[in-house]
Amino acid sequence: MNNRFIEACQRVKSDATPIWFMRQAGRFLPEYRRIREKHSLLQICKNPELCAEVSILPVDILDVDAAILFADILLPLEGMGAKFEIKDEVGPVIEKSIDSFEGVNALSTVDPNTDVSFVMEAISVTKKRLNSRVPLIGFCGAPFTLASYLIEGRSTRNFLKTKRVMYKDPKTWHLLMEKLSTSMALYLAAQIEAGVDAIQLFDSWIGCLSPQDYHRYVLPYSLRIFSYIERYHVPRIHFGTGTANLLDEMKRAGGEVFGIDWRIPIDIAWQKLGYDVAIQGNLDPAVLLADIDWVKSQTIDILERVEGRPGHIFSLGHGILPDTPRENVIELVKFVHEHTKASI
Ligand code: CP3
Repeated sequence: MNNRFIEACQRVKSDATPIWFMRQAGRFLPEYRRIREKHSLLQICKNPELCAEVSILPVDILDVDAAILFADILLPLEGMGAKFEIKDEVGPVIEKSIDSFEGVNALSTVDPNTDVSFVMEAISVTKKRLNSRVPLIGFCGAPFTLASYLIEGRSTRNFLKTKRVMYKDPKTWHLLMEKLSTSMALYLAAQIEAGVDAIQLFDSWIGCLSPQDYHRYVLPYSLRIFSYIERYHVPRIHFGTGTANLLDEMKRAGGEVFGIDWRIPIDIAWQKLGYDVAIQGNLDPAVLLADIDWVKSQTIDILERVEGRPGHIFSLGHGILPDTPRENVIELVKFVHEHTKASI
């Protein structure tokens, strides 16, 4: 097995810096778009064979060092009692947004092996088909990011409804976070038991909070998830965007690897986090829309800041954009591997 990704998670020296991308199995690949012409996103998610096929596409095409399970962070919400759709051009839409105590009280805890058995099946088919070429990353949404979808009903810029519940109705907020964290802990444990080699907690929208609010309203719940799965000893990646001022609080919540975006230079983020954790990032996905020379110069900047320190997983600060030229991505992977083979 190409073990660079796991080695970097463990901060062990490897033969080259590993690289993978969030949304690497997505719309920027014509092969994915072709499958999407025939199936909706949720149809793919509920079809383990298709999930495996899509998940392995970027391993074949891009030569990345890890595959990520094909799923969506919203999938387990249905089992909890929140129906949703994923609409083209809009994103997730929750059928009935949940912002009252009664609404939250009616939610159940997810039972992964029945409610999302198709995800567990997808993991075992994907693992089999990967045949140990690269590790498989499982994931779930973090309680804050999931709560924001449940309360707002769809994507938002300012998270005002979410903050209103948090500040005005803390009892409802804490009950929701308790249910989400219990559910996600069980969901990740089931993914690990089904065979994933590492997990990533996506707290994509956490950057809208102050450190004090993170501490009070979020930390206990993300901590509960990380603590619950610690017993499995698989690497745990803690990801968020806009987290420059939240890194020490996020570190308290847990994880061996921290995924950061491009708004903070990687050397400064690593210094803040401490060198007892690994780091993942942090090229701006928009850089890949430019010419390859710009991509390479920005990549060199990141690698120079890292100074060959073991424990760096090269990635983007957020997901690959749908308009990204695939040649740039192929070149970037090759460049990171070749450039770091010499320096490590
Ligand atoms: O390749 C991979 O990264 C694996 C698959 C994956 C999907 N969603 C499939 C998907 C992963 C890891 C996710 C996680 C996810 N889903 C997150 C966290 C990561 C992040 O980007 O911050 C979030 C916030 C969601 C919720 C979600 N799902 C949104 C906001 C959207 C619409 C935005 C968009 O990119 O269109 C989705 C839809 C979605 N989930 C797509 C894919 C491949 C988009 C395209 C499609 O319809 O095929």
